[in-house]
Amino acid sequence: MQLIHPDISSEMIPKLDEIIAAHYKMDGAVIPVLRLSQDIVGYLPMALIDYISYGLNLPRSEVLGVATFYSLFSLIPKGRHTIKACLGTACYVKGIREVTSRISNEYGIKEGETTKDRRFSLEAVRCLGACGLAPVLVVDQDTYGGVTPSQVKSLLEHYE
Ligand code: FES
Repeated sequence: MQLIHPDISSEMIPKLDEIIAAHYKMDGAVIPVLRLSQDIVGYLPMALIDYISYGLNLPRSEVLGVATFYSLFSLIPKGRHTIKACLGTACYVKGIREVTSRISNEYGIKEGETTKDRRFSLEAVRCLGACGLAPVLVVDQDTYGGVTPSQVKSLLEHYE
């Protein structure tokens, strides 16, 4: 089977083949193969899911089921920066929804999506344990509290 995808280079394919071969017929192979493959490609495009199921001789539904079950795996490309919006109760009450709506309007992404230029991915998360700062956004490793919709653009603009 040929693996053709714009995000999978010809240098990646032998490495993926090696991972698949090393786990062939092993019990519980799917998780490590997906994890190692995602480390190489950055995410798990459908063509790669198909390639892995073919290589491991497992049904596509089984591989896809594992890939969609664990939050560790992503079927969409990740942006260079990840915005985590807290949808926990305190943040909800303090207006995180208005903040995420502003992000959606400014950058054209909803939760679980990545901008076309792969600058940002937007994720919804549960309580980040910083409720006193609600509403909270975390961008990469940076935590921002008391975020208002009008701050969104200036806060995000220096993440290139
Ligand atoms: S609810 Fe958002 S940090 Fe706790």
